[in-house]
Parts: sequence; C-alpha cells; structure tokens
Amino acid sequence: MRLQNHLFDGWRATCRAFGYEEYEGPTFEHLELYVGKSGEEIVGQLYHFMDKGGRELALRPELTPTFARMVNQKGSSLRKPLKWFSIPRLFRYERAQRGRLREFFQLNMDIVGCDTVAAEVDLISAVIEMLKGFGLTSNDFAVRISSRRVLSEMLGLLSVPDEKKPTVYAVLDKRAKIGPIEFNKLLLSEGLNPNQIAEIEAYFGCKTLPDLLELSHRWLELDVNPSVIMDATMKSKIGLFDLSHLVESLDSLGYKDFYELDMSIVRGLAYYTGIVFEVFDKGSNMRAIAGGGRYDNLLSKLGGESLSAVGFGMGDVVLADLLNEKGLLPQGRPGVDYYLADLAAQGGLPRLKMLGLAKRLRARGLSVSYSLKAGKFKKQMEEANDIGAKAVLFFGSDRAPEGKYEVKNLASGEQTILGEEDL
Ligand code: HAM
Repeated sequence: MRLQNHLFDGWRATCRAFGYEEYEGPTFEHLELYVGKSGEEIVGQLYHFMDKGGRELALRPELTPTFARMVNQKGSSLRKPLKWFSIPRLFRYERAQRGRLREFFQLNMDIVGCDTVAAEVDLISAVIEMLKGFGLTSNDFAVRISSRRVLSEMLGLLSVPDEKKPTVYAVLDKRAKIGPIEFNKLLLSEGLNPNQIAEIEAYFGCKTLPDLLELSHRWLELDVNPSVIMDATMKSKIGLFDLSHLVESLDSLGYKDFYELDMSIVRGLAYYTGIVFEVFDKGSNMRAIAGGGRYDNLLSKLGGESLSAVGFGMGDVVLADLLNEKGLLPQGRPGVDYYLADLAAQGGLPRLKMLGLAKRLRARGLSVSYSLKAGKFKKQMEEANDIGAKAVLFFGSDRAPEGKYEVKNLASGEQTILGEEDL
C-alpha cells in the first residue's frame, strides 16, 4: 500500500494540476459493452460470468467503454469539453509476467468534446509532467507518437480496402512482439502482397514529417521534392496536419527530448481513429508504461452523441518496476512526527496526561504515536524505530523542567529540551 499510495498520490497531484476531475465507475459491466468495440485481443482476455439473472457480465479489462457509457448517460447536461480522470482496478486474463498482471490499477485521463490537438497537447504534457514528478527524466522515457488516421490513409494509398484495415491494424500492433518472420506470414495470410508489406516496413521506418511526405509522394508516384510539397492539400490528404500541429506545440513547450514520432505505434485497441501514443522506458525494453489516443466513434457507437474523445491509460505495474530500477521509490515507512515514550511507565493519571499531550499535538496537525502498553523503555524505543518515528519525546523525564520535554531526533541523535509550543 505504501508503494501504491506513492503512485496514486503522484497521479492525482498531476491530474489536479491540469484541472481534471476524478470519477469512478462499476467494477463489472455487461459483456456486450466490450465485444465488437474494444478489439479481439482484449475480448480474449475478459473475465466474464453469468449472474443469477442470466445476464452475461464481465469484470472491466479497461475503463474507456464505461467512461463513454457514463458520459453518454449524462448527455448534454455535462459541459464540454470535459476533463476527467480515474484510477480503476482492472482485470485481464493475461499470462502473468514482468509488467503484466491479471489484476492491476490503471490511471485514466480523458477529454471529451475537443476536436483539435489542444486535447492531445494537454494529455501528453500531463503524462510528461507526471513522470517527471516521479523523478524520471528524458533519459528514462519517451512518448512515441503516431496516427491511426495517417496509417489508414497510407494503407489506402497502398490499396488496402477499408474493411480489411482493422485486422491489419491488429497484426501491425503485434509486430514488435512476434518478430519479422511471423509478422510477414500473418500479413500474407491477410491477403497483402510482398510489395505492400515492404512498403509498410518503409512507412514504419519514417521518423519525421518530411519522411512521411516523401513516402506518400512516392506511393502517389509523384516525383516532387518533399521540402516543396509541404502544402495544405497533401498534408490534409494523409492526415498530417494534426501531427504537425502537435509537434509544434510540444516543441514550443520544451518537450522536444520527451517525445519521438514512431509510425510503428498502432495500438491494440480497435476504437482509435486519430493520433495515438505510447510511453516507453528507454532502458530495459519493458512494456509500454502508458498508451492512448483519439477515439472519434466510441461514444456514438454506444448510443450517444457524436463526440470526439482523447485519453490514455497508465498502468501501475510497469511504472513501479521502472521507478524501482531507477531507485526512485520512497524508502522506509511514512512514520510519525513524535513517538511519546512513557518513562514513568506506570499507567494511571500520568499516562492520561501523556494522552492529553498527544491529543493537543494532533490537533495542531502533527502525527503522534505511543506504546499502547506502558512497557519497558527499551521496548518503546524499538517500537519508535520500527514505525519510523522522526523524534521521540521522553514523557516524564527528570532532565526536563516542569512543563518542558526532552526530545530526541532519531535521524541526528540530537537531544533537546523543548516547550510544548516549540514541538
Ligand atoms: P492499454 O494499452 O490496453 O490501453 O493499457 C494502457 C496501459 O495499461 C499499458 O500501457 C500498461 O501500462 C497498462 N496495462 C495494460 N494491461 C496490463 C496488465 N495486464 N497488467 C499491468 N498493466 C497493464 C487501454 O486500456 C485504454 N483503455 C487506454 C485509454 C484511455 N485510451 C483512451 N482512454
């Protein structure tokens, strides 16, 4: 819980600093909320069951469908754009391994009703500031940014039909996990030809906006110099406008070292339609710390208004592993400000006076503890150390005059005589 509180405190502090409001949803939902919307991978990982009323229910594997359902339910009574966050406990039937558990927590931050990249800028800034808040730097992590829209347009240029795209996305998302041979095999079995596959690899190799333009022009069989063709028609044709605005904003906010364009980011979930991003650690090749993007159709698909949304999820497991590896987890116990050691150790009235002192100190906002049994001095000192007390106050010490207290700072070992108001 100490570790969990550290993560949750950091998450909440950033969410509040960015003006997001906290919400919570139910732990389980109707099974159909996920089927056909979240994508095959996550549906294959569902814990589902039938309740006594014969209803098919599932423990939530993610919060986004619940979020969309709740926003839909409130309809126009909610002022848009809205910025909400939540820290749900989630369940996925995955093989438990490094960075992946079957039960975990995931911070969700989402914006509904903002059509411009202002939403992506807000969320990506929040991710970066949040991770910096935990002590991580641009040497430790990077936000990798891509776009489903650009990918969709590019696949269109390669003559991949629209109805094939979702299954192709699912294969593309697995690329890093399954290796090049299996990747090739799967794409061939989806009906792509070797030439299309080679071009997709070329697309994944693009690292800058000009790279993307150059490639799209080659595909369009236009022999034009990419620096000349940054014109509006071409940019909007392949959905690059949003990406270039996002890049400009992040650069001007000083986040240049914290992100990179990476066209191989596709995201496993089915509902993304625009810019997508994942956060990775730069060191030990762990799994993604966070992932998200824009999803234009989920709310309307679930029966609501047609509203665009953007958001991301950040799991507790990979983040905790990374912070641990970098030595950034808090050490020791939260402790108390004062441990009151009862030197008289005799119960009765003197002890009640000590409890009165504790009460007054707590009323001043200090944390105070003491032995519940008036035991031996040595035992009390052991307890003070064990709970991580910052200082011990020797109650009843004859070294302190009436109305004053002898106090020992446990970190420095220094002993002083203090009046109550100086504590
Ligand atoms: P996701 O990519 O499935 O996205 O999960 C986001 C993050 O949750 C991952 O990067 C990882 O840190 C963590 N995570 C996922 N599965 C596990 C697991 N089994 N054990 C530990 N951590 C895990 C979503 O869930 C989207 N609903 C996020 C989103 C919110 N998109 C828009 N809004």
